[in-house]
Amino acid sequence: MDSKKKNIWLLNVLFVLFSIAIIAFLLNAPEETTSPLPQDDIHIEFHKIKKKKEAEKFCLKCHDEGKDSPLPEGHPPKYRCLFCHKR
Ligand code: HEC
Ligand code: HEC
Repeated sequence: MDSKKKNIWLLNVLFVLFSIAIIAFLLNAPEETTSPLPQDDIHIEFHKIKKKKEAEKFCLKCHDEGKDSPLPEGHPPKYRCLFCHKR
């Protein structure tokens, strides 16, 4: 192999390794451990609302400071609940 071809080969290998690293990172993202939206009486109606954005309007009625079930300390930013807490 001349050195130019070798360089291209090396770049390809690096690219593949880099892609694998990204995929591994994404698969490890918090999503995996984040609790899903519970399937109980309280939350069942939010499973029925098709649009995430519509359903999320109700979450903070209970999950806010001083409410029934406040978010734990150090909770990530609380916009778009259902992107993280999957249904
Ligand atoms: C009427 C009040 C109320 C509303 C509205 C509500 N929740 Fe809850 N939620 C609770 C209560 C109480 C609990 C704790 C008991 C339980 O697990 O059902 C809880 C628990 C949870 C949990 C924790 C489950 C676990 O495994 O620990 C998640 C996640 C959650 N709610 C997400 C949401 C999201 C997202 C919304 C909006 C779509 C929402 N909740 C709307 C009252 C509510
Ligand atoms: C960026 C992702 C993300 C978003 C957006 C988000 N959460 Fe969470 N939530 C988490 C993670 C991660 C935890 C676990 C935190 C911990 O263990 O300290 C958590 C924990 C909780 C808990 C405590 C019960 C449990 O499973 O530990 C409740 C209740 C909850 N979230 C409700 C909500 C609500 C309601 C919203 C929208 C207002 C929301 N979350 C938005 C990631 C998210």
